[in-house]
Amino acid sequence: MMRRSLLLCCVVVLLAGCGGVDPDSPLGKRQAIFKQMLKTSEELGGMLRGRLKFDPARFQLQAQALERLSKQPWQHFPKVQDAGESAAKSDVWQRQERFQELARALQLRTAELLQASQAQPLAPAAVKPAQARVEAACKACHQEFRSH
Ligand code: HEC
Repeated sequence: MMRRSLLLCCVVVLLAGCGGVDPDSPLGKRQAIFKQMLKTSEELGGMLRGRLKFDPARFQLQAQALERLSKQPWQHFPKVQDAGESAAKSDVWQRQERFQELARALQLRTAELLQASQAQPLAPAAVKPAQARVEAACKACHQEFRSH
């Protein structure tokens, strides 16, 4: 009896410790990818807004990373809406075509950013508009499909 309540206690602590999201679940996987996308996009934006030093080689590398990441979250939205601490609106599943359209739009924008980042020598002005369009693509989908 003692043992069982101890075990139960550990499980509760474990779940609370990781916010209740199993990192191996589709939800955990897509949230981890989105977090990485934010980190990458913020570094790119930071270099263009003067928060970080503009480093052309680093910019190219991160533009490449973002292009790769932009293809990844979508496979972790299951066919049927999953339960859990998701910020995804049920619209994701009710209007799948529109959701996929905005996912493709982001992939197109990150591909354009990657291409713009190949300019030699690379100056911030050459990538600013493309980065702004990437950020707009994130925002457009969040406004329609994310609850918070
Ligand atoms: C096609 C739609 C779509 C696009 C485009 C999109 N997102 Fe999201 N994003 C979502 C949805 C839906 C969620 C909620 C996921 C969930 O909790 O199930 C989300 C969640 C997130 C989260 C929260 C992750 C967490 O820890 O719970 C971050 C950060 C994020 N997105 C960043 C970005 C960035 C940065 C971009 C652009 C580079 C982007 N997203 C583009 C739909 C999108």
